[in-house]
Amino acid sequence: MKRIPKGKIRNYFIGAVIFIALETMFEVIIPFLMAQIIDDGIMKQDESIFLAKGLQMLICAGLSLLFGIIYARMAASFTSELAAVLRRKEYQAIQRFAFENLDHFERSSLITRLTNDVTTVQNALISAIRPLVRGPVMLITGMVMAFLIDARMAWIYLVILPFLGLVLYLIVRNVRPKFPRLQAAMDAVNERIQENLTAIRIVKAFVRQDYEAEKFETVNSQLADISRDTFKVATLNIPAFQAAMYTTIVALIYIGMQMIFGGTLQVGELTGLLSYVLQIMNSLVMISSVFLLLTRSMASINRIEEVFNEKVTLTSPEDGKFLKDGSVNFHDVSFKYDLQAEEDVLSHINWSIKSGQNVGIIGATGSAKSTLVALIPRLYDASQGAVEVGGYDVKELNLNALRDDVAMVLQNNVLFTGTIAENLRWGDPDAEQKDLDRACRIACADEFIQRLPDGYQTQISQSGSNLSGGQKQRLCIARALLKKPKILILDDSTSAVDTKTDRRIRDGLSRLPMTVIMIAQRISSIASCDQILVLEDGKVRDIGTHDELLKSSSIYHDLYLSQKRGDPDAAA
Ligand SMILES: Nc1ncnc2c1ncn2[C@@H]1O[C@H](COP(=O)(O)OP(=O)(O)OP(=O)(O)O)[C@@H](O)[C@H]1O
Ligand SMILES: [Mg+2]
Repeated sequence: MKRIPKGKIRNYFIGAVIFIALETMFEVIIPFLMAQIIDDGIMKQDESIFLAKGLQMLICAGLSLLFGIIYARMAASFTSELAAVLRRKEYQAIQRFAFENLDHFERSSLITRLTNDVTTVQNALISAIRPLVRGPVMLITGMVMAFLIDARMAWIYLVILPFLGLVLYLIVRNVRPKFPRLQAAMDAVNERIQENLTAIRIVKAFVRQDYEAEKFETVNSQLADISRDTFKVATLNIPAFQAAMYTTIVALIYIGMQMIFGGTLQVGELTGLLSYVLQIMNSLVMISSVFLLLTRSMASINRIEEVFNEKVTLTSPEDGKFLKDGSVNFHDVSFKYDLQAEEDVLSHINWSIKSGQNVGIIGATGSAKSTLVALIPRLYDASQGAVEVGGYDVKELNLNALRDDVAMVLQNNVLFTGTIAENLRWGDPDAEQKDLDRACRIACADEFIQRLPDGYQTQISQSGSNLSGGQKQRLCIARALLKKPKILILDDSTSAVDTKTDRRIRDGLSRLPMTVIMIAQRISSIASCDQILVLEDGKVRDIGTHDELLKSSSIYHDLYLSQKRGDPDAAA
């Protein structure tokens, strides 16, 4: 953050600083000229001086205005470009995240970091550049001009200024620590709103509006309290500034009056000095409010930096290998999501799948079925042991090649806004219509697509809410098939499809020349597989074919019986 990117953006920044400095300098000259107009023009009744100095004053004002306009444009370009770069870099950083990194951030927090936080930094910068340059420039040039007019009087500034400086410093020091609290309270409100809006249908379905409203009220009033507490002190800035200013003005007028009576000071000089009091004090207040502003954006900067500093441990090796076939081998694999956790989620898995086999995984909910298959496309790295895919340890494989060759239909898969055809082409951007037809036929999605008025051109609304659960699942399977993977993983991907269609999809898949790994709740979905793995609490309980497991595995046998009783079609 400390470094400003090179090139265009840096030039805008330098330009903004130069032009604001120029604007300020020309502005500071004006009271000096005014003093001369009053003393040499008006008091001595010399019109030529009045005209000459008046013209100079107009030129100064005009130049100051012009530079101010150029500054404003440069500053706007600088901050907007910088914000765009920040957003792009942050977006790219998040895209590089592995699943493990994504587990470290709330989704709502990543959204705030990409939008609100960047805007906060942008706003802080645009409001800070001007006072940060103007303040010191005005302070110094104002002092010089004041001394030029009358050195005897200017010492009054030197008495008052340190005093005002001290007061402002105390205010800043007091308010600073309050800003991180303010930002945290704002985050809490944002988070509540986002969570509530994402799940608003569920909230209504459960009639929990009151409960949600109460939770919102808590964070909302906390935010109000903290911001009142913060700004109570921060707003002392202005009165402190005014008190110091009026004290100085009164002192100046009093001493100036004596000097004018004594004939050692002129009226115009006094007016000039008075103008500089205003400018100098103003610059001090500007500097102090910038400090407050920047402190406030520090919290946002830190949050953005956290995203940049998040270490992506899961990367593709240089000269990564390519898969030879669709085989998978687990060698004594253990895994946990949190390295600090005591218990393994998966422990000591040994399993071998030959290329082209159809295999099933079954087990109670939470037995780590999804976790087990997530290791195959290397969504996570095993904590211990090795996962071998296509003949190589996954860590030796080119990551893109691995994920291209392993298509996974996730348990909670999503579709994107766009047409059905666009969604399917996610799997293969160059797919022709006949490829789409074929994939949809195997996934049994063709029948409902044909019935839609716009067919493949039907728009899918946000996350597919205009499709049924089973329709979405079939589209996701078709999308995965279009990748023509060596290994296809279906994580409970036909759970919302009726048993008849489920069987047709399975039959179609079993004829494809690829390894198919299927997680299922229903025994009927996997009974015809070449081998079935029974998972229990992250451990392999049994491996075998349907017939073998019926004899040897008590869990499998019990499951079979219970499903057969419940659904006569299930044990087909
Ligand atoms: N991203 C994650 N971070 C931390 N823990 C996780 C994560 N995903 C899953 N877990 C935990 O790992 C365990 C196994 O979860 P997993 O999703 O693999 O089970 P599953 O067998 O697929 O269950 P289901 O049948 O309900 O889909 C659970 O205890 C779960 O809480
Ligand atoms: Mg699962």
